[in-house]
Amino acid sequence: MARSKRKTAQKPGSAQTDFGFQRVPLGDKQAMVDGVFDSVARRYDLMNDLMSGGLHRPWKDVLVTAVNPPKGKQAFALLDLAGGTGDVGFRVAEKGGPGTHVTVADINAEMLTVGRGRAAKAGHDVTFIEANAEALPLPDRSFDAVTIAFGIRNVPRIEVALAEIHRVLKIGGHFLCLEFSSVDIPGLDRLYDLYSFNVIPAVGRAVTGDAEAYRYLVESIRKFPHPEKFADMIRAAGFRRVSFQPMTGGVVALHSGWRL
Ligand SMILES: C[S@@+](CC[C@H](N)C(=O)[O-])C[C@H]1O[C@@H](n2cnc3c(N)ncnc32)[C@H](O)[C@@H]1O
Repeated sequence: MARSKRKTAQKPGSAQTDFGFQRVPLGDKQAMVDGVFDSVARRYDLMNDLMSGGLHRPWKDVLVTAVNPPKGKQAFALLDLAGGTGDVGFRVAEKGGPGTHVTVADINAEMLTVGRGRAAKAGHDVTFIEANAEALPLPDRSFDAVTIAFGIRNVPRIEVALAEIHRVLKIGGHFLCLEFSSVDIPGLDRLYDLYSFNVIPAVGRAVTGDAEAYRYLVESIRKFPHPEKFADMIRAAGFRRVSFQPMTGGVVALHSGWRL
């Protein structure tokens, strides 16, 4: 497919970054990521279940439990960043009381359209905004919690997004990031590689007609920093009490940090 072949010419002196296993100009990555999610948006939720064998649900349950929105009328503002089709946002809205308000922000209009449709169907009162995690059109210190699930590895300048998340959190606010991580259990790592590089692109091709989009998603998982390194990046953005909890043998990790 044209997506992997385009925009890979290296301009002398220009910063490069990873797009899966390719090196691409930093300034080109976001458009390439957007192409991936344009292609998969309509089948995104089905593919999430198929690819993870439904495991994204318990992983997201752990995330939502950690958000711990108040049950009562107490005001609680959550920003679910790179929120896509709204999955995490809806779960927090369901768990929280009437004081909980959820904003789902994503850079991709196609993903948000699917999300708005889901919200209308289920009667969720959630605000959707089209926004880049690197430049949030949101005021300083406006959220009690910010979540990002399976989104941060797609953002070209992760440190810029972390600074933005820190900026929009209230003092005492909680940042929670669910992301694929590093499997280091002997045996499980080989099985996981076999599954990721063979089964996932094949299922992606069958369901969305786009194996390459899913190859990118798998490759981008392998290029994402190890959890200790990512925890250091969270600390460098100014967060305190930074920790992470690996799940399912390190397939994913839940990272946590506080704006104090
Ligand atoms: C794998 S999906 C995750 C969606 C959702 N959080 C979930 O767990 O189902 C990644 C999302 O990140 C979004 N994304 C990528 N780059 C972004 C950016 N710079 N700012 C905001 N969202 C971005 C994509 O559009 C996509 O919807």
